[in-house]
Amino acid sequence: MTILVTGGAGYIGSVTVEQLRQAGRPVAILDNLSRGHQTAIPPDVPLYVGDIGDRALVRRVIREQGVVACIHFAALALVPESVEQPALYYDNNAYRCQTLLDALREAGIGRFVFSSTCATYGLPRAIPIAEDHPQQPITPYGWSKLFVERMLADYDRAYGLRFVALRYFNAAGATADRGEDHEPETHLIPNVLRVALGKAEAVQVYGGDYPTPDGTAIRDYIHVADLAAAHVAALDALTAGQPSAFLNLGAGRGHSVLEVIDAARRITGHSIPVRVGSRRLGDPPQLVADPRAAQGYLDWRPAVSDLEHIIASAWRWHCRYPNGYPKAEPLRAVSEP
Ligand SMILES: NC(=O)c1ccc[n+]([C@@H]2O[C@H](COP(=O)([O-])OP(=O)(O)OC[C@H]3O[C@@H](n4cnc5c(N)ncnc54)[C@H](O)[C@@H]3O)[C@@H](O)[C@H]2O)c1
Repeated sequence: MTILVTGGAGYIGSVTVEQLRQAGRPVAILDNLSRGHQTAIPPDVPLYVGDIGDRALVRRVIREQGVVACIHFAALALVPESVEQPALYYDNNAYRCQTLLDALREAGIGRFVFSSTCATYGLPRAIPIAEDHPQQPITPYGWSKLFVERMLADYDRAYGLRFVALRYFNAAGATADRGEDHEPETHLIPNVLRVALGKAEAVQVYGGDYPTPDGTAIRDYIHVADLAAAHVAALDALTAGQPSAFLNLGAGRGHSVLEVIDAARRITGHSIPVRVGSRRLGDPPQLVADPRAAQGYLDWRPAVSDLEHIIASAWRWHCRYPNGYPKAEPLRAVSEP
């Protein structure tokens, strides 16, 4: 009855593992640790250190752990890197995902929850963005995720795979034990908190001349614990026989970069200097979800996604782990046959 969590050593995956365990679900993780942290995983959770593109290993995990469903987080997720190295992204995020899907199919596993992204929409034509908004990604990262969405729809039609593809907006925040630790860090909130911790002098703001009330870009931040809860709800929905779905996961309201920085100043008591530079290519002025479809399908509401809560929780985590996750002891993983 085990849930296979790929990418469970990463930011969102590790918080989802935390919640699956709190709900009493057996979990096994497959992660190549290219971007994740072994110490984000509780020591008693089976960890297979390896790649989703290694079909023999995926078969082995399924067999040894009695896998019945999969939540698939494992991916590379740095947009600029995807522009520089599209081959890496299509291989890792799309091609290897197909290998994973085929190994699951071969084993008769028909429930799959997928980490998709609002980057599949490209430049928004309307705000808030609903699921039927045209999908025209502007980066290889966005395309690599859209290709998987396409595969899922076709695998459902042809092979009866049932899936929920969750298009996240901006994941943020932390639980007491798990937070955001990426290298390089491209997300706003951890970079703002780095300044408050004295690890950087100022926050780089990309663009102060957007057509928004304060000139900075507006994004929809959703707390990682709310995201994780939506994954547990998605599995339950599939188990209850609901049909496959593509769903936005956002809080449904936007905050500008300067609003985020102001909130962080209040919470941390630090002045957090700002350097406003030019816009980044392809960064839209606003990305805000219409989250109603997810709320209906999953019977789920974001509970802790107000900005204050998001930043306060991230701040507590970064104060506790100013250098990120502790380094792991020599590997304890179940990786060798
Ligand atoms: N963080 C966000 O705001 C956000 C927004 C939209 C979508 N997403 C998607 O959510 C998922 C999780 O994001 P995150 O921020 O937790 O990322 P992360 O980098 O923290 O975690 C990804 C994990 O996947 C692992 N991984 C990558 N490729 C692998 C492979 N081929 N085989 C095995 N393991 C592999 C990495 O080692 C890492 O532990 C990703 O699919 C990402 O595209 C994230």
